[in-house]
Amino acid sequence: MEVRKAVLPVAGWGTRFLPATKAMPKEMFPIIDKPVIQFIVEECLHAGIENVIFVTGRHKRPIEHHFDINTDLEKHLEHCGKTQLLKNIVEISRITNPIYIRQKEQLGLGHAVLVAEPAVGAEPFIVSLGDIVIKSEENVLSRMVDVYKRLGKSIIAVFEVEPKDVVKYGIINARYIEKDIYMVDDLIEKPRPEEAPSNLAIVGRYLFTPRIFEKIRVTPPGKGGEIQLTDAIKLLLEEEAVYAIKLNARIYDTGTPLGYIQTLVEFGLEREDIKSELFNFLKNLVAEERPALK
Ligand code: UTP
Repeated sequence: MEVRKAVLPVAGWGTRFLPATKAMPKEMFPIIDKPVIQFIVEECLHAGIENVIFVTGRHKRPIEHHFDINTDLEKHLEHCGKTQLLKNIVEISRITNPIYIRQKEQLGLGHAVLVAEPAVGAEPFIVSLGDIVIKSEENVLSRMVDVYKRLGKSIIAVFEVEPKDVVKYGIINARYIEKDIYMVDDLIEKPRPEEAPSNLAIVGRYLFTPRIFEKIRVTPPGKGGEIQLTDAIKLLLEEEAVYAIKLNARIYDTGTPLGYIQTLVEFGLEREDIKSELFNFLKNLVAEERPALK
C-alpha cells in the first residue's frame, strides 16, 4: 500500500522554550527566514506525501495561517515587484494539502498520534516531529518509504550518537540485517551509557503500519503521566517486526534554546547572502575582538 499521509504532532507545550512558547509555537520559530515547520513539511512534500496532518492545539494557530493562502500579501508583493519573495510564499501555500486536528489535552506524543487516526485510516503513515530538522543528501522519508515497500513493516529512523550522549535519547536494541537496516528487539528510554544496548538513537521520523493505533489505545500513561509513543512501539514489537534505518544525516533539535541557536548558526553559515559577515562576526566574538561597552 502506498504511503500517502504524514502526521506532524505539533500540539506540545514547548516548556523547554518558555516564555517564548507561551503565545508562539516553537514550530514557527524561524531558521533565518523560514519557520522550522516549513522545513518539515517540505521534507514530506519531496517524499511524495499527499496529505500533511497536523495534530495541533489551541495555542498553535499561526501554523495554520502560515500554510494558508494570503492574497493581500501576495498582491502587495506583486505590486512592489518582489517576485522572488512572492514565489516563496505562493509555492508552499499552494502545494501543501493540510489537515488540522486538535489534540484537546496534551496527553503525550503517543496520544497525539492516536488523535490523527480518523484522518489516517487503515493506511501506513509517517510521523515526523515538528521540531526536528534533518539535513541529508537523500530525503530521509523517501528512503523510509522505499524500505517500507520492501519490508512492509514499521520503521524507526535512528542515528549514531556518542556513547556518552545515549542518556539524552531513546536507544534501540537491535540486530543488524543489512547495510543501515536493523531489526528492533527493544527500545530503552535515556539509558546510562553502561546500560545502553547500542548507540543508535531514535530521531523523530517514523513510518507506522496502522496497527500502531491499536497499541497506543492500550498504552497506559508512562513517564511524566504521558502516553508515550515509545511504549506503544514496545507493544507493537510483541506482534509485528519493527525495523530501524540508520541515517547518515545531520539532526537539528530546534526544541531547546541551545539546539535552536546551533541550528541558526549552521544554517546561517551556509546561506550565501549572510555567511561571510556572520563568519566574521562569530570569529571576532570568539576572539573577543569587539570593542568593550563603555
Ligand atoms: P516534545 O516533548 O519534544 O515537545 O514532544 P513539547 O512537549 O512541545 O516540548 P517540551 O518537552 O515541553 O519542551 C515531541 C513532539 O510531540 C509533540 C510536540 O509538539 C513535539 O513536536 N507533542 C507532544 C504533541 O503534539 N502532543 C503532546 O501531548 C506532546
